[in-house]
Amino acid sequence: MRDIRGVLELAQESGVAVGHFNVADLVLLKAVFSSARELQVPVLVGASEGEREFMGVRQIAAVVRSLREDSDFPIFLNADHTHSLEKAIEAAKAGFDTVVFDASALPFEENARQTREAVQALKAINPAILIEGEIGNIGTGSEIHQFAQDLSKYLTTPAEARQFVEFTGVDVLAPAVGNMHGMSQKMVKGENKKRLDIDRIAHIKKAVRVPLTLHGGSGTDDDDMRKAIAAGINIVHINTELRVAWRSGLEAGLSAHPNQVVPYKILPFAVESVKQVVCARLSLFNGVRQPPFEGECAVASIERKQHALSQETPGLMR
Ligand code: G3H
Ligand code: ZN
Repeated sequence: MRDIRGVLELAQESGVAVGHFNVADLVLLKAVFSSARELQVPVLVGASEGEREFMGVRQIAAVVRSLREDSDFPIFLNADHTHSLEKAIEAAKAGFDTVVFDASALPFEENARQTREAVQALKAINPAILIEGEIGNIGTGSEIHQFAQDLSKYLTTPAEARQFVEFTGVDVLAPAVGNMHGMSQKMVKGENKKRLDIDRIAHIKKAVRVPLTLHGGSGTDDDDMRKAIAAGINIVHINTELRVAWRSGLEAGLSAHPNQVVPYKILPFAVESVKQVVCARLSLFNGVRQPPFEGECAVASIERKQHALSQETPGLMR
């Protein structure tokens, strides 16, 4: 099995992107893992500082490692948005495969200085670990925001990207290219989409030649996503869409069984709801058009096709 570096190299060669999905519990992890297996594509699981605190740093690392080893399947774990060296070291020692060291709220020079220090410290713990650095401003919070913020003046330039990568030695770069964390109310309803600056991605890619990550993937226009991957994005992060699906699936489970108290009879509703999102996103990132697979991902794919048809020809498939 390839390691995460090998998986990213293959993604670059094949013009696809690795899906990264945040998890905060076993429902989300189960949905992510089973979707990736049904589609037979590698996957990254992310846990932010808050998600790690809730699940336990060493505990989530042990669960993901056991899934990978027991099934011989390429599932990897990322310490997402890690703001301090102390927390980054904790994750590296627990066996995380990648760390997003995020000092992007600081001025550029200070961000670069701290990120370089983190790269050196983390590689000393595990030389194979991949470190991602972040520049520009893409907002915070994988939540539903009342309005989408205008972050257009904080976009990353190719020159900044090159300077940052050369100085810090990061393995992966997360630029600001029109993306942002979270979704507006309109995005949740599908009335508005995030749009990406594709030319900027292509210019940054030319300037740095390391894998690029697109954060804040929830609610992004599908065509922009395809073009962004073709322009050089190698990892796409999705969180808010999963959280929305998790909540609505849970609500469906509770209302389908108003008197039920057995968790494993209610929670499968949430797993299936999250799987719909993960299957759709993984199919898009990996260019899966004709589902050669079985299971829930195939069901999700048929439902999506019906939905697309009903949008194109109103009234045909209600
Ligand atoms: O690191 C996590 C993400 O960038 C997720 O962003 O909640 O907008 O999908 P999102
Ligand atoms: Zn992010």
